[in-house]
Amino acid sequence: MHFPHAYKAGENNQTVRHPSGNGKPLIDYDLSRRYPDTWQAMEKLVDSGKARSIGLSNFNILKTKRILKVARTIPAVNQVEIHLYLPQHELHKFSIKHGILLMAHQPLGGRPVPAVRGHPDQPFPTSDSTVVQAAENASMTPAQVCLAWAVQRGIPVVPKSVQRQHMEQNLAIKRLSDKLFEEVDALETKRGGPTRFLDPGKHLGFDIFDEDEDQPVGNGAPWD
Ligand SMILES: NC(=O)c1ccc[n+]([C@@H]2O[C@H](COP(=O)([O-])OP(=O)(O)OC[C@H]3O[C@@H](n4cnc5c(N)ncnc54)[C@H](OP(=O)(O)O)[C@@H]3O)[C@@H](O)[C@H]2O)c1
Repeated sequence: MHFPHAYKAGENNQTVRHPSGNGKPLIDYDLSRRYPDTWQAMEKLVDSGKARSIGLSNFNILKTKRILKVARTIPAVNQVEIHLYLPQHELHKFSIKHGILLMAHQPLGGRPVPAVRGHPDQPFPTSDSTVVQAAENASMTPAQVCLAWAVQRGIPVVPKSVQRQHMEQNLAIKRLSDKLFEEVDALETKRGGPTRFLDPGKHLGFDIFDEDEDQPVGNGAPWD
């Protein structure tokens, strides 16, 4: 189950991405709140043999708890944004406790499209001076340091590249020493908190990552 919100159904009754006139998506707010029903429908796909494994993406702790309340099948995976500036420690602990494999998308910071890009003014962790220095010390590239840090935490990564050389580097990571691991691991704290580069809040009109309220709570966007 991708983003925990649902777009309005098209004429063929499938859930589709359906931009409105102002470039904003048309949200089915009721269906967006009924994602536990969607999970149960996905479980039926497992029952009927049409799917072997089912999982989540971009689910926070609050929303995953709602899934776990109804689940007969524990989500195999939850793929979320994780990198040195957004380590997701709480979600990681929670996922381990419940047997859900947390997977890192955008492990190098990602390249979200402008509509959903958070902190466009900030550089990605691959150009952080601490990461560049660690890479030099370990005879690795900055990207390899970012990936090794996640993998050493037990988090699988899905970096994307269009360059063969980068793909080969991303497959050839090695272990960081404890000292270098700790140096790069401290970056989030050193920067004063997490930085999320994929943030669809302004595009959707609500915050899917809100841990206090299960969004969307209302039936419209601020611009409606
Ligand atoms: N589930 C979700 O909601 C979700 C959301 C976002 C992304 N994803 C998935 O996550 C994967 C990665 O996302 P992403 O592409 O945004 O983030 P990313 O892998 O963190 O970053 C990709 C960027 O890093 C560069 N790069 C890759 N390897 C490199 C290397 N070894 N050295 C230097 N630069 C390197 C790429 O440039 P080059 O091409 O020039 O190498 C590209 O600009 C994709 O498969 C995507 O579909 C999932």
